[in-house]
Amino acid sequence: MDAVTTDFIHVFEPGPDAARPPLLLLHGTGGDERDLLPFGRMVAPGSCLLSPRGRVLEGAMPRFFRRLAEGVFDEADLTARTHELADFIEAARRRYGLPAPVALGFSNGANIAASLLLLRPEALAGAVLLRAMSPFGRPPKAELGGKKVLILSGALDPIIPAENAARLADTLTDAGAAVEHKILPSGHGLSQADANLTRGWFDNAINSP
Ligand code: MLT
Repeated sequence: MDAVTTDFIHVFEPGPDAARPPLLLLHGTGGDERDLLPFGRMVAPGSCLLSPRGRVLEGAMPRFFRRLAEGVFDEADLTARTHELADFIEAARRRYGLPAPVALGFSNGANIAASLLLLRPEALAGAVLLRAMSPFGRPPKAELGGKKVLILSGALDPIIPAENAARLADTLTDAGAAVEHKILPSGHGLSQADANLTRGWFDNAINSP
């Protein structure tokens, strides 16, 4: 077994349709590698699912990187953890024989997915960012060359100011990503509308572009 792969507790579920890009599922604060499996199966049936558990603990709650307060990130830790996660993805791709995955992240998982796009864009084929915010105060320059990104924000989200999510969409667009940003009439939690829109995006943008 590959040393880097073993560094992240993770679930890998093979999918019957090898032509579809695998999904990299990234849970929110306090979640784990099992949280997004049902959502992943629902929005991209047939795809392989690769789902690591964040390695940072806030109390008993797993996360993907440290924060100093809600919405205030330890950017040095975020940078180091982003490279660790990108190395895990590379190792898992070798181990399971996978093409680059599309990330599907929720909240803290969406924030590290956005950081992956900016710091290690080769790690991902695209991304769905559910309730994401800008991971860096001053985003690094990135070249995303048309990578497809869906951002779903909540108009009533008490954690993520609308301006912050809009700034993330602008950053990724300026870096050359093909960004769709939709604002739903919901809060921080996911709703059926998130599942429907994500499934539609996979069908149209990823699986039959
Ligand atoms: C974060 O810390 O990534 C965001 O504040 C979202 C959260 O996990 O609560």
